[in-house]
Amino acid sequence: MNPLLSRLQPYPFERLRQLFAGVTPPSAPATALRPISLGIGEPRHATPALLVDALCTAAQDPAGGLASYPATIGTPALREACAGWLARRYGLTVDAATQVLPVNGSREALFALAQTVVDPTPTGHGAPVVMSPNPFYQIYEGAALLSGAEPYYVNSDPARNFAPAWDQVPAEVWRRTQLVYVCSPGNPTGAVMGLDEWARLFELSDRHGFVIASDECYSEIYFRDDAPLGGLQAAVRLGRADFRRLVALTSLSKRSNVPGLRSGFVAGDAAILKAFALYRTYHGCAMSPVVQTASVAAWNDEAHVEDNRAQYRAKFAAVTPLLARAMDVRLPDAGFYLWAGVPAAFQRSGSAWSADELFARELYAQYNVTVLPGSYLARHAQGANPGAGRVRMALVAETAECVEAAHRIVAFIESFPA
Ligand SMILES: Cc1ncc(COP(=O)(O)O)c(C=O)c1O
Repeated sequence: MNPLLSRLQPYPFERLRQLFAGVTPPSAPATALRPISLGIGEPRHATPALLVDALCTAAQDPAGGLASYPATIGTPALREACAGWLARRYGLTVDAATQVLPVNGSREALFALAQTVVDPTPTGHGAPVVMSPNPFYQIYEGAALLSGAEPYYVNSDPARNFAPAWDQVPAEVWRRTQLVYVCSPGNPTGAVMGLDEWARLFELSDRHGFVIASDECYSEIYFRDDAPLGGLQAAVRLGRADFRRLVALTSLSKRSNVPGLRSGFVAGDAAILKAFALYRTYHGCAMSPVVQTASVAAWNDEAHVEDNRAQYRAKFAAVTPLLARAMDVRLPDAGFYLWAGVPAAFQRSGSAWSADELFARELYAQYNVTVLPGSYLARHAQGANPGAGRVRMALVAETAECVEAAHRIVAFIESFPA
């Protein structure tokens, strides 16, 4: 067996299952609290009809459907649709032939990218490092570990809209860093990186030679007037139109409510994408021609995305003020999570659980609502777990269900003994 597999950590939902073990929520008819999950961040709005239609038509096409092996680099039509979307959304000019590559959702691409760019050979400075924000999407850590690198977690700072504290990373760690994951809009924080933060990261990348992987899969669900700045867009604004050492990853899963389609793309530095395409050829992860055709239809349509965004905006506008009566929570920049602070009453000395665990467990036990303890999404680093004392709530269910969850959470907090 590959010994690196033993370094993988239990996934947060496995830890949640253990936290809830033995708890019976009040779901009996007498108490009539049907389960509501704000746990998993899986889009639940309806699949757009144009995508289903495109899939069905493509599946029946004897020339382009299921009858042939797809190329790893995708069809020119798909790469051009992705480049066209980048042009409309960010005003970018990218070469569809060399700067865009389709992937089967951003998750597999985030993972595979580390296997492509990391050189696991230790140098005189020590083991290679893959860096990520803390809290973070758990795939970054698994990708780092299986690439043979050492993960390094940069705590996000609530006082600066959860920006990771890049300036506190020791020079010795930067020297060993080969890959930095960033997530903007962030999961779980919902924070969007600004141009200053990008400028700082580019400067560090120029100095230390690391690749930046910018995970942007929540970019189309936002609550401010301006759409979130993209990494490639920031690069162009800062005079780096060649996207050196920068790759952005995006996906249809959240934008178009199709997590089951498995479709996204990466764009950026042509030299990295060339190596990535080579890696992917051997890995065998070409996208189905049927999915490629449906993806072209999705990237070319913005109406369903606007409708989706409007649904999230209405939902967050209804739920956030309700919860804010009882806990430290505010509207994020973007994404579909609330990253809420747990009230002080849940901090119990001598308890087997941290405040966020106690909150999640008791909420489930008493009100049959599932939320994810923030500490499960972060690691203890630089003396603290920056997820501790927070919970992540995914507002993916329909508005009425999320509002009901919010009422239950407020009742729960108000009835919790101080
Ligand atoms: C931050 C982040 N990145 C990437 C993904 C993967 O999404 P997909 O593989 O569906 O594109 C997710 C999914 O939840 C996510 O939260």
